[in-house]
Amino acid sequence: MCGIIGYLGPRLAIPVLLEGLYAQEYRGYDSAGVATLEEGRLNVYKATGKIAELDKKINRQYGSATVGIGHTRWATHGKPSDINCHPHMDCHKHIALVHNGIIENYQELKGRLQQQGHRFLSDTDTEVLPHLLEESYQGDLLAAMQETCRQVKGFYAMLAICQSEPRRIVAARLDNPLIIGLGQGEYFFASDMAALIDYTREMIILQNGDIADVSDTGIVIYNQGQKVERSVKHIDWDKEAAKKGGYPHFMLKEIHEQPKVLAQTMNGRLKEDCQNIDLSELNLQKQDLEKVNQIAIVACGTAYHAGLIGKSIIEKLLRLPVMVELASEFIHKDPLIDERTLAIVISQSGETMDTLAALRVFRERGARVLAICNVVDSTIAREADQVFYTMAGPEIAVASTKAYSSQLMLLYMLTFHLAQILQRQNQQQLNAWFAAMYQLPQFAETLLAENEQTIQALAKTISSWEDAFFIGRGLDYAVAQEGALKLKEISYIHAEAYAAGELKHGTIALITDKVPVIALATQDSLLKMMVSNIVELKTRGAYVIALTKGNVPEVDQVVDAVIHLPETDELLTPVLSVIPLQLLAYYAALYRDCEIDQPRNLAKSVTVP
Ligand code: M6R
Repeated sequence: MCGIIGYLGPRLAIPVLLEGLYAQEYRGYDSAGVATLEEGRLNVYKATGKIAELDKKINRQYGSATVGIGHTRWATHGKPSDINCHPHMDCHKHIALVHNGIIENYQELKGRLQQQGHRFLSDTDTEVLPHLLEESYQGDLLAAMQETCRQVKGFYAMLAICQSEPRRIVAARLDNPLIIGLGQGEYFFASDMAALIDYTREMIILQNGDIADVSDTGIVIYNQGQKVERSVKHIDWDKEAAKKGGYPHFMLKEIHEQPKVLAQTMNGRLKEDCQNIDLSELNLQKQDLEKVNQIAIVACGTAYHAGLIGKSIIEKLLRLPVMVELASEFIHKDPLIDERTLAIVISQSGETMDTLAALRVFRERGARVLAICNVVDSTIAREADQVFYTMAGPEIAVASTKAYSSQLMLLYMLTFHLAQILQRQNQQQLNAWFAAMYQLPQFAETLLAENEQTIQALAKTISSWEDAFFIGRGLDYAVAQEGALKLKEISYIHAEAYAAGELKHGTIALITDKVPVIALATQDSLLKMMVSNIVELKTRGAYVIALTKGNVPEVDQVVDAVIHLPETDELLTPVLSVIPLQLLAYYAALYRDCEIDQPRNLAKSVTVP
């Protein structure tokens, strides 16, 4: 939530800042601003709305500044407006600061600062920071930042510049991501590596409590007052991965990347002969696993939906109890966790605040934590005992698609691996699943190629709906929850997922003529019951779009429309069945003229609780 950017070097700062903000717009998009230092003066530009508004306001008047900071906001404290937009300044407009995070004790600090005569302009928590810097500034921005960090409670990634020290940026990080990119005599700062990849591949990922002092003479990093060394990482992402590559939206591109991503996620882990899975990267030993008496999966949003699939397959194959919890709920409980729990936290960004908090609860209670993450070296990846990377490449659209399917792949591989180590399934059956899994990228490709047009046409119908029900049983119910979330978040159509067997316990009362239902019927063992549910809905007039594996006459004949998935083992169908649901949501949102990649009120990475 919120993206920050900074630059110090020989280039004109504003174009670099704007480009970095555009690249991070998915982190927040309700207002944006930049501050530059030019001839001993601070210049600040702000605009409410998207970055294009700021760009328009600046109107290519880039000046000659070569040092600056910028911010794209997702509002927490104070509504989106020019006043609440970052950068914020001190009373004398001497210091400018951008911040991602929340200052929890801002009211107390603000009261004290106001009593001391500081004048506040905004409703934000952030504004206390430049005033605190002002309060302790005695010619050294680094010392002022160190003092400020001592006084604040909460979490932050922030950058500050000061008129009296025109070639210096001071950065601080606690629980929100902050990266420094290294060029030839130039430094770039961002919340996300993807924003810097066009400029450099050499990056330092600041760690919790780090304060970095950056000037033309180099970088010095401190932690708790002591100088520390941080390694420089070479990031070898494909530059094009964070671009739209000819697609109108990142979401559509990311949906289409799934066949490749599924293959990448298996690459090197599932051998071509489909006889073995190599997850030695996790270093899971039989004697440790035998002590595990439960698995606990915690995540948010789409990652939580992947966790629901994880629960079903682990329980089925390992006969081990699995709890799956929303991180935001889990952290307020007194969970039944101890050193015999194997914890799995799932997060695309690796920065989701609640998931990170859950990880810390697990660790406090002695559980071993395995993280499934996409972003390399993210906070969750670093704090977990083991990390299992999804290899999905940068996911830019706010609506998660390829991250979900790659999370599923890892959960399948992990389950098979555990089943192998603990000898809970016979090798023949495992080999059959390995072989089926190996075919999934090809099946996903076929599914996209053969169904996209039909789905687009169905989405036209869906786009006129105001409500939709997604139903399924077993694994289909878990996928239905993801399908409903996708439709809600990008097309703003109210959508609910129900376990098909629950309809008769209340919800069927809502089914009348033409009420839209998307029915997932991909589970062979549950098909008969799903057919009955579909017929019951049709009898009451519902408009039903079904998802089946291949032709299923008893479904095809009764529903209004059907999407056929390639035939695969029922255990693995979620990897395929989610794809049509993603496309339905995408095209419905397109017909409704919605902002697909940046839906209202959302941001990609939820770094506040
Ligand atoms: O980065 P994470 O996987 O931890 O993010 C979790 C959720 O915020 C995320 O999946 C969210 O629900 C997506 N916008 C859904 O498309």
